[in-house]
Amino acid sequence: MDDLYRQYILDHYREPRNHGSLEQPDIHAADTNPLCGDRIAIDLNVRDGRVTEVRFNGRGCAISQASASMLTEKIEDATLDELRALTPQDVLDMLGVEIGPARQRCALLSLRVLHQGIGGPYTGRMDDDDDLDDEAAAQALKERDSSGV
Ligand code: FES
Repeated sequence: MDDLYRQYILDHYREPRNHGSLEQPDIHAADTNPLCGDRIAIDLNVRDGRVTEVRFNGRGCAISQASASMLTEKIEDATLDELRALTPQDVLDMLGVEIGPARQRCALLSLRVLHQGIGGPYTGRMDDDDDLDDEAAAQALKERDSSGV
């Protein structure tokens, strides 16, 4: 993994932006990564179709938490239509590193939660969802442990 991007991911992991929760959010959504049970929750306040406040909370590997942190920065002040137009590729590009299929669930968990909350198109379903098995879980956890993120 490129060292610069690794540092960037670790920076967001250690000092997550928009971390926490909103007292009475207009939108709240949460979900888990089925491979490891890690979890992310996102709260949004919205006015006139535009995000006015965003917070996230959760536990999980550096990639999942950094991706949530970066995503919340990206969507500050965005319209709900802009949020719905976000694709998995946008999030992977944001992270800036090559991420294997097993770890993509880590990276995309925050987008899935966001789209669940706003009725967006990304459900987190991937072509290989049928392969959700112990082997895939073991692979994801192995990658996490060996890469340090
Ligand atoms: Fe659990 Fe990445 S989200 S290992």
